[in-house]
Amino acid sequence: MPPEAEAWETLESAARMLFKLYGYREIRTPVMEETSLFIRSVGETTDIVQKQMFTFEDRGGRKISLRPEATASVVRSYLEHNLHKKGGLIKLFYIGPMFRSERPQAGRSRQFHQIGVEAIGSDSPYLDGEVITLMVKLFEEIGLKGYQIKVNSLGCEADKKKISRILKESLEDHLNLLCADCKDRLQRNAPFRVLDCKKQGCRSVVRMLPPVTDSLCPICQGHFQKVKETLELLGVAYVVDPYLVRGLDYYTKTAFEVVHPNLGAQDAIGAGGRYDNLVGDMGGPDMGATGFAVGVERLMMALGPKAKDLASLPKNRIFVATVGEIAYKKGMKLVELLRSSGIWSDIDYQKKSLKAQMRAASKSGCNYVIIIGDEELKRHIVTLRDMSTGKQSQVETNKIVKELKSLS
Ligand code: HAM
Repeated sequence: MPPEAEAWETLESAARMLFKLYGYREIRTPVMEETSLFIRSVGETTDIVQKQMFTFEDRGGRKISLRPEATASVVRSYLEHNLHKKGGLIKLFYIGPMFRSERPQAGRSRQFHQIGVEAIGSDSPYLDGEVITLMVKLFEEIGLKGYQIKVNSLGCEADKKKISRILKESLEDHLNLLCADCKDRLQRNAPFRVLDCKKQGCRSVVRMLPPVTDSLCPICQGHFQKVKETLELLGVAYVVDPYLVRGLDYYTKTAFEVVHPNLGAQDAIGAGGRYDNLVGDMGGPDMGATGFAVGVERLMMALGPKAKDLASLPKNRIFVATVGEIAYKKGMKLVELLRSSGIWSDIDYQKKSLKAQMRAASKSGCNYVIIIGDEELKRHIVTLRDMSTGKQSQVETNKIVKELKSLS
């Protein structure tokens, strides 16, 4: 609803402008995809695939899901449209609804919206630095403060296997402290998922585990070091969280999350990371890639009362109030002229009396009213009333656009 939708529009425009500055181009993928796409990319054992997808069979017997996220769809489109054959780095951004069938609560909806970027075609740690910086710039653009950026590295595929083994062994020592879901996760050989569990008991076990970053190979350690150096170079504050894993399987090396204290249990306003194997796993060539997505609803929650300020209407809003049909027709022509000159203006469509028109203008927040009555018609003028001071002046009709444009 307005004004919330207007605040969203401001955020989306700011994101579009910013992303374009960084060389990203917009992509719009379908909201539905074949279910197998998400199973292959997000991962069979993840909560998203296990519990959260809206999946159905279409009339042709195909299994279809509403997209729970967009990275998989972007990579599918990238391959389908042979962007990998163009060579070089492809930078794409998207804005749109995602669907996860979770129990709704504050900060968690079944249809929510993400603004995200994907940069495909480079394994450079400097690119991870740029991507994280871009996310921060978006926050700055809308005046968000008080967030914290957590970064980690999950290593390459070999490291992930090793870390998974180490985690599994350590977790088995604390089996009795884990929740039923996590016991099940361990059984299904998905120890990374335990690190993502929000339950208190499981969180205390996680803190006893060996840090993920201790098990990285030298190449991945070097990569992570460079990501951190890039953030320092670009002045982005971060903390290393060696237990940060993500609820999606495709991540390799860099993983990051942004949390905000205004959010409560669902505290991530955005997250992302590198996914160097996804393009290859989906049938393309080996291609480094990285990206992020922020949740629009959560971003607005984090902004709190400041979100309202994003919904700004033009400073000067003009209501044209008239008396009699001839004046009304003049008024209609005038509002059209004002609008084509880029001035917000409106007129009555409910046959209101002058008094009622003035009241409506004030109620709708117009700060100036142009009055046209018999006297004005006769003298080819209009009366301009400043609604905040009540001061009125007479302006020649053909000078009114200039006069309104000169108002501060
Ligand atoms: P994700 O962490 O699953 O990552 O989602 C990103 C953000 O979407 C979250 O941090 C949160 O703000 C928002 N979000 C997720 N689920 C909900 C929900 N049910 N209700 C409201 N907001 C929600 C991804 O989706 C990855 N595709 C990000 C990425 C892009 N990684 C690389 N490129």
